[in-house]
Order: sequence, then structure tokens, then C-alpha cells
Amino acid sequence: MRIPFNDLATPHASIVEDVVAEVRALAGNSRFIGGPAVEAFEQDFAAYCRTTHAVGVANGTDAIELTLRALGIGGGDEVLVPANTFIATASAVAATGATPVFVDVDPVSLLVTPASLEAGVTGRTAAVIPVHLYGHMVPPADVLPFAAKHGLAVIEDSAQAHGADAPAQHDAPGEKVRAGSYGVAGTFSFYPGKNLGAWGDGGAVVTDDAQLASRIRSLANHGRSEGTDHYEHRYIGRNSRLDALQATVLRRKLADLDAGTAQRRRVAAVYAEALAAHGIPLVAPLPGVDSAWHLLVARVPGRETVRRLLDEAGIGTGVHYPVPCHRQHAYATDQTVSLPAAEQAAAEILSLPFFPHLRDEEVAYVADHLAKAITAL
Ligand SMILES: Cc1ncc(COP(=O)(O)O)c(C=O)c1O
Repeated sequence: MRIPFNDLATPHASIVEDVVAEVRALAGNSRFIGGPAVEAFEQDFAAYCRTTHAVGVANGTDAIELTLRALGIGGGDEVLVPANTFIATASAVAATGATPVFVDVDPVSLLVTPASLEAGVTGRTAAVIPVHLYGHMVPPADVLPFAAKHGLAVIEDSAQAHGADAPAQHDAPGEKVRAGSYGVAGTFSFYPGKNLGAWGDGGAVVTDDAQLASRIRSLANHGRSEGTDHYEHRYIGRNSRLDALQATVLRRKLADLDAGTAQRRRVAAVYAEALAAHGIPLVAPLPGVDSAWHLLVARVPGRETVRRLLDEAGIGTGVHYPVPCHRQHAYATDQTVSLPAAEQAAAEILSLPFFPHLRDEEVAYVADHLAKAITAL
């Protein structure tokens, strides 16, 4: 059996004709930048995230950077970032002139906690970016009271968590909030491999703050303001727009997102049972969180050998991420910084084949071969 790490082609087969028909219409009206396709997607995506505004941008990295800039965060400021995120969370902060300050995570959930965040606060801290890693959302109760205490802006990096929900409060188990909706803003990536992926790059910021949305839109469009002359530039902006072609693809795929997430949750449950039977730990969401299950990550000893053995059995794997940000050459200014939970996780995590239409027998095959590989170490 050959089981790829991901399969993006199969889910597209059923929508390609719909998209092509809309692309023909787009070619006819030539509204390639902005226009009704982008506006319609932004409206749908804001509603999906349960926010009042969504601003389409060029990618998920720009979504973070432009949000920070629109909040006035830059040189001299520090921003708290988990050490075990994709590097873009950090590079977006650095691009504003602010300094990413890496914090450790809970050793089991691999998410930031009030205690891990507290360890990174200084008099210069201006914002915190919780990352909903693997789709496992950081609950608002783990971030908002901490941020309020220190007067920090919260920007949720939701690049991996489209449609995840978490309990609104620890003591109100029934009420849920959606990823991206509890911070001052939530940022998303539509990189093709994401749960909601474009046919190229794309990103968005969602927020309930009309002024913030308008400023981000302006920064992403050469500093133009809505309703003013095309060549009037209020801010030093740049070009970071979501184009109409990507918006067309995304809007069609958004209609199927919940069904895909439900399939992901089902496959994750099958994996959880199969891995538990072999005593292999899985990185799971916190209690009460409805994860978007972007990735399915196990923790294994001898990770590189195990990966090689799985590869020989035809099983594709990934590692998200093998080197924590504070150990990356570009950011490792202080080699004495030790963030043990992130470092230990980086050595053990293994992303297994995972996509909505993965079959139960494929999951069993992966779990059996993983157990065999660990035993062979
Ligand atoms: C956690 C996280 N943040 C930010 C990004 C950046 O998104 P993009 O690749 O669209 O710039 C990604 C995706 O790659 C991500 O996984």
C-alpha cells in the first residue's frame, strides 16, 4: 500500500467544473482585482468566522504583519510568539521592526498557556500571538485574561484552524467561540495545503473592529483609503491583495469546509483509537475544543529512523516543525535561551498521513507500521 502524506487532488475533482464556470464569468467581466468575487468571499468568510469584517490579503504571513502594522506595533515593541510555530509567525513580527519573543508551550498540548506567556512579558511587550497549532485552538481563557492584565493586543494566528471552536469560558462549557474571533483580529492562510486552500497563495484577517479592518485594507492596497481618489495614499502601504481568481476558488471551497472538517474529525478519532491501542501518544486538542484537525501529529522516539522505516513501507510523513524558532539561525540571537517543552517536542513530533478521505484501513496500516517501526528501534 502507498499512502501519501496529503492528497489535495481528490477533493478538487468534484468542484473543478463549478470553479471553471465562475472563472469564465470572471474573464468576461475582467474584475480581476477586488470587485464582486473578493467582496462575496470576504462576506462569507467573515460570517463563517463569526466576525463582522474579513479583509482578503496576499497570504497568511502578510495577514499577521499588516495587522500588527495597523495596530501601530513596530520598532521597539516586543511580541510574544510560541517557539513551536511555522517561522512565518515570527517573520511577520520581525518585518514590522518589532522583536518576536519566543515563549515555551505546554508539554502535552503544545500550545501557549498563561504561565508560558507570563515568562516572556517585559515592559516592551505590545502584543501576543497565540497559534492554533495543528488546528487545536488555544482557548480564549488561556489568553484573554493574561492579555488584559498586561494591556496587550491579541492576534490569533489561525492559519491552521479554519472553523475550530473552543469554549468561551472554562466555566461555560456549552458556549463556543470560533478561531480568529476572540482576539482583536484573527489571521488566516489559504496556502493550498491548508484546510481552506486556494489555487495559489492567499490570506485574510478577520475582526469586529471596523477601523482596524479599514486600515489593514488600506495598507494592503498601497495605502489607499476607501472612497478616496485612486492616487491618494494616506498610509505607506504596499500590494498585498487577495485576487479575484483565488477568492472565487475559496468561496466555492468554503461551502464544503464544514463537511471536510467533519471528515477530518472522524479520521482523527479513528487514528486516536488505533494509536492508543499501540500506546503511541497523539497531540490532541484541549478538552472542549472542536479542533479543525489540520495535521495529525504523533510523538515517537527515534523519529528520523521511524520516518525512514515508514517511507520504506510507502507511508509519507512530515515534521511540523523540526527546529523551534528560537533555534533557527535567523532568530537564535541568544543561544542560552532554553524552552524545553518546545525543544523536546521538536525532536519527537511526527505528522502522519492525514486528509478528509483517508480510509480506515489506511489509518490501520499507518498505525501498525508505526508501531512496528518503534519496536524495531
Ligand atoms: C501557523 C502559521 N502561521 C503563518 C503561516 C503563513 O501563511 P502563508 O504561508 O500563507 O504566508 C502559516 C502557513 O504556512 C502557518 O502554518
